[in-house]
Amino acid sequence: MGLTMDVFSRGHVVALCWLCVELVALVNGIGVNWGTQATHPLPASTVVRMLKDNGFQKVKLFDADSSSLKALGNSGIQVMVGIPNDMLATLASSVEAAEKWVSQNVSTHVSSNGVDIRYVAVGNEPFLTTLNGSFLGTTLPALQNIQSAIIKAGLSTRVKVTVPLNADVYSSSTSLPSGGDFRPDIHDLMLSIVKFLSDNGGPFTVNIYPFISLYIDPNFPAGYAFFDGNSSINDGGAIYTNVFDANHDTLLWALQKNGYGNLSIIVGEIGWPTDGDKNANLNYAQQFNQGFMNKIAAGKGTPLRAGPLDAFLFSLIDEDAKSIAPGNFERHWGLFYFDGQPKYALNLGTSSSNSLVAARNVRYLAQQWCVMSSSASLDDPQVAPSVSYACSFADCTCLGYGSSCGNLDARGNISYAFNDYYQQNNQLQSACQFPNLSVITNNDPSTGTCKYRIMIQTDTKSALGLGAGAVSFRPLTRVLFIFMFLATAL
Ligand SMILES: *[C@@H]1O[C@H](CO)[C@@H](O)[C@H](O)[C@H]1NC(C)=O
Ligand SMILES: *[C@@H]1O[C@H](CO)[C@@H](O)[C@H](O)[C@H]1NC(C)=O
Ligand SMILES: *[C@@H]1O[C@H](CO)[C@@H](O)[C@H](O)[C@H]1NC(C)=O
Ligand SMILES: *[C@@H]1O[C@H](CO)[C@@H](O)[C@H](O)[C@H]1NC(C)=O
Ligand SMILES: *[C@@H]1O[C@H](CO)[C@@H](O)[C@H](O)[C@H]1NC(C)=O
Ligand SMILES: *[C@@H]1O[C@H](CO)[C@@H](O)[C@H](O)[C@H]1NC(C)=O
Repeated sequence: MGLTMDVFSRGHVVALCWLCVELVALVNGIGVNWGTQATHPLPASTVVRMLKDNGFQKVKLFDADSSSLKALGNSGIQVMVGIPNDMLATLASSVEAAEKWVSQNVSTHVSSNGVDIRYVAVGNEPFLTTLNGSFLGTTLPALQNIQSAIIKAGLSTRVKVTVPLNADVYSSSTSLPSGGDFRPDIHDLMLSIVKFLSDNGGPFTVNIYPFISLYIDPNFPAGYAFFDGNSSINDGGAIYTNVFDANHDTLLWALQKNGYGNLSIIVGEIGWPTDGDKNANLNYAQQFNQGFMNKIAAGKGTPLRAGPLDAFLFSLIDEDAKSIAPGNFERHWGLFYFDGQPKYALNLGTSSSNSLVAARNVRYLAQQWCVMSSSASLDDPQVAPSVSYACSFADCTCLGYGSSCGNLDARGNISYAFNDYYQQNNQLQSACQFPNLSVITNNDPSTGTCKYRIMIQTDTKSALGLGAGAVSFRPLTRVLFIFMFLATAL
């Protein structure tokens, strides 16, 4: 995700009774994003089982990881595979590289593993302004080479190309959807991409984040971020009661103005985070996602384009190794926590249970936590460097103002940091040896909304530092070395 425009922040607030939607059978199905930037990812087979148990018909990946794809084989789930931005330059400069990519990452899985790949996403939000134009020159040529490779592989009728773009590739000059057009600095490039997609039957994929509107603008009318319709704007007779519809139709106006008003649109990412910011909480996430799912279930489109939306929720599971450059909320977009437990009641309309179904057979480490010892003093000069060391590896994004652990006292804060570091290191004894400060306990320190987690078991491969868990493995010697260094520096 990235930034979403906030041009609709000045809507008139009117009281409307709007949402009288009856749940009906899903028309177009619902998809979900499956990201794997976690220190302890659930096994791929467990995740695929979750997808099926929850009735997701489609999944979007950010790469073409072969274990994820193998697990999706013969699952009946449609797949969008992804090409990370850092591969675009190579794929742009060589048709051969693109052919190899398609052969290894698409053809093999389709023909030998029974994976129902429908889309290849070329890049991920490559034109985000925060990326400084790094991928402006390579995205279209990579898209063209991948398309040629798909044709050469004989897959062009079933596999389509697309580019997931952030909603900042367009904006409105009037703050109304009808003022929509592509961003001036990339206007021509966008038209070339749109033409290429249109010529090849590829959809326009856009990520839309009402949460960001609220995050970046404190005056944004909160009701307009949700689907409950207590706030609206009138755009030449079209009534917009939520920023999602307005944003979607700004894109549609941009497409229409440039002659591509019929291009199909996929909402590549949509969702709401649950922690790491005052507006990121369980209630808001539940309200937003349920509102969106009611809209999907009703087969409702937007004022400018009626009919069912094609969308992928963001996201399935929290990812504790994601960069927090966009904000502390970035690790908390999941419908499920890191261990596959549902966060809140959500009726996706896809199963008889009417609620989210947890991951099965998840194995946890022992019921023990690393906390600040009662004999340690808050004045100990080792406290500050120990906490900052722990938090540089562990996930301390729940500690900030308005977050789930934002109300802890100083000792609780320190314990939280120690414990998360300890859990990320698979409860390694040496990861709870903050000098004279820490102790292992069997008493759960969790209070209220603040959960001190117990890590899940991953396979031995990662525990030994060879797999995905490798990032979290820090031998004691290095810990001690850094403490000594910090102690000297202080
Ligand atoms: C296939 O995809 C994986 C994961 O994205 C990547 O590491 C690998 O380099 C790709 N294969 C080729 C031939 O590019
Ligand atoms: C973009 O530029 C800014 C300022 O020059 C820099 O801090 C940032 O790291 C750059 N980002 C990327 C992705 O190159
Ligand atoms: C509209 O809804 C938001 C979010 O549910 C709420 O915070 C706000 O007070 C409501 N505004 C009005 C005018 O009812
Ligand atoms: C868009 O689709 C509609 C209905 O299929 C068709 O009547 C119309 O001509 C199309 N417009 C363009 C610009 O292709
Ligand atoms: C707890 O830690 C967070 C994040 O480091 C900090 O913002 C907060 O002020 C701390 N609270 C206390 C009571 O120390
Ligand atoms: C821990 O405390 C003991 C006794 O108070 C002290 O001798 C020792 O130097 C301390 N160790 C560290 C690493 O601070």
